[in-house]
This record gives sequence, C-alpha cells and structure tokens, in this order.
Amino acid sequence: MARAYGFVEYGGPETQQLFDTPVPSPGPGQLLVAVRAAGVNPADWKVRSGRRTGSVTVHFPAVLGREVAGVVEAAGPDTGFRPGDAVFGATAEGYGGYAEYTLVDARAAALVPQAVPFEVAATLAVAAGTAFDIVEHLEIVDADTVLVLGAGGGVGSAATQLAHAAGAAVLGVASAGKRDLVESCGGMWIQSGDGFDARVAATAELCGAVTAVVDLVGGDVLERAVALTRAPERVVSVADPARAEELGGSGITRRRTREVFEQVVALVERGVLTPRIERTFPLADAGAALELVESGHTGGKIVVTLP
Ligand SMILES: NC(=O)c1ccc[n+]([C@@H]2O[C@H](COP(=O)([O-])OP(=O)(O)OC[C@H]3O[C@@H](n4cnc5c(N)ncnc54)[C@H](OP(=O)(O)O)[C@@H]3O)[C@@H](O)[C@H]2O)c1
Repeated sequence: MARAYGFVEYGGPETQQLFDTPVPSPGPGQLLVAVRAAGVNPADWKVRSGRRTGSVTVHFPAVLGREVAGVVEAAGPDTGFRPGDAVFGATAEGYGGYAEYTLVDARAAALVPQAVPFEVAATLAVAAGTAFDIVEHLEIVDADTVLVLGAGGGVGSAATQLAHAAGAAVLGVASAGKRDLVESCGGMWIQSGDGFDARVAATAELCGAVTAVVDLVGGDVLERAVALTRAPERVVSVADPARAEELGGSGITRRRTREVFEQVVALVERGVLTPRIERTFPLADAGAALELVESGHTGGKIVVTLP
C-alpha cells in the first residue's frame, strides 16, 4: 500500500484526508513513479470541488495532484524509460500526485537533469508548461509589450520570465507583496486592484502599447485588460478562457508531451527559467499546502515533498 492525500467525495476541504491506496501497476506506455515531489495547483481544488466532472476522471477516494517528479520504480513496455530514471511529468488519467507512488504516461514525462532538484521539476508540467505554451502560442517577440495579469503566481512568474527572455517588455500586475518577485522575473511591477488599468495605461505610455495579454485572473480584471490593447486576438486566458473568447481572445491548447517538457526543463537547466518555489510541505501537511493555493494569493509555487 502507498500513503496518499486526497478527497473522498466532491466538496470543500473537509472532504480531504490522508489514506492508504494500493500501489498501481503500470500498463503499456505507463511508468510507476516513486514520488519525490508533487506540484500543487489551483486545478487540484477545482477538481475536488466537482467543477471538472466533465473533463477529469475521478474514482473515490481520489488522490489530489496532477504533476510529479520522482524515480521510475517500474516501466511498462515501450516507454523509453528504465527503473531508476529520474523523471517528471503529468500523472496518468485517474491517478494523483500527492502520494508515495503514482502512474505517469511515458509520453507525458521527461528526464530530470542532475542539476534540477525534484521540487523544481515537479512544477514544470503544469505551471511552467502552461506558461511555455502561452508564450509560444502568442509568438512573443522583442517588439512586444506583454501584460501579465497575476504575474506573481505559479504560471504568471514563469510567463513573465519567458516573455522577458524573448526580449519583450513585460508589465506584471500583482499585489504589493509580490513586487520583488515580479521584478526578479524581469517584469515591471504594476499594483493590482482598483485602478490597475489606469496604471498599466500610464506605464504603456513609456514602454509601448500593450500588444499581448496573458490572463491568469479572469473576470473583471480580464475585461479591463482587453480594453488596454488594440489586439484582442492576442489576449490569452487560462483562468477564464470562455470569457476571453467572448472578448475576442482565446484559451490555449496545452501540450503535455515529452518534447515540450524536454524544452521546458532545458530552459531551467540554462537558467532562462527559474521556477520560484515559495514553500514546500510534507505529505502529512498536504492539506495546508492546498489551502494556501486555494486562497488564490500564493507567490510562485507550492510543492508537496516526500522523502
Ligand atoms: N488550463 C490550464 O492548463 C491551466 C494551467 C495552469 C493554471 N491554470 C489556471 O490559471 C490560473 C492561475 O494559475 P496559477 O497556478 O498561476 O495560480 P496561483 O499560483 O494561485 O496564482 C494566482 C495569482 O493570481 C493573483 N491574483 C489574484 N487576484 C488578482 C487580481 N485581482 N489581480 C492581479 N492578480 C491577482 C494572486 O496574487 P495576488 O496575491 O498578487 O493577488 C496569485 O499570485 C488559475 O485559474 C488556474 O486554474 C490553467
């Protein structure tokens, strides 16, 4: 049996608990991974709350978490990996990451280079991978001025770094406590909250009109941001893709593939992208880790670590 943390029915945090679950067997194309670290994401509590019933398969008790880094314990046939390989990736459908063992689809996994710690690798499939897909989708170039809404979060801090690395001017909207974080990612910090759009407009006067928007907040913030650009077709939201589409923008299609993950981890190795790990929690405290993310105001990434 393996120790795991998850939820026993759809609902709030009260449905979460530690439990034992059978160690799964890898099928064709799958890896059994001894988890060393699991990324914690807003998607985790959204799945628990029942908001994702149409797209995410859940069998109760369900283990939380969608991304891990760890060591291959056993590999199904034709995976290209061997026991002992250090890997990271997205968990297989129906399996979660906050656990001693999980299954990962080999096609959605890549090797962890020696220089990259497990807790960093565990954040690459979801937050960094999403930021990578957004920046590629928008084809950001050095002539761009990119507005990032929620620049201090997991996806936002990675998107800010990647857009900055592409040579763009990056305006990062975040609360005051995240100013240093946004600036360390190469962004110009703009305080979030009432009047943020006027502050963005004033800064854009100096560094060039907003040519692309990366939205990680949604709602009214997204709507106000669309009014700040003459290129609504270059507004991308992963927080509120339906609203972005109504406003002339779009969501993105995620590419959870080995090829993309290899590119993302290579950027980490080269120092182009440095995922900001705000805090790690042991598996026994995974509930506190998710509570922090569910608050909606974390800076950088929260990770559950296992010995
Ligand atoms: N489709 C996908 O594949 C995909 C993948 C990853 C994430 N997502 C979605 O993208 C969103 C962001 O994910 P994440 O992992 O980056 O979340 P996160 O790490 O929790 O960060 C969210 C950030 O939003 C900021 N924020 C909240 N209200 C704000 C406001 N009014 N103005 C400006 N910033 C505000 C928060 O910081 P402050 O304290 O500064 O407000 C926080 O830093 C979530 O909705 C998530 O579900 C989708």
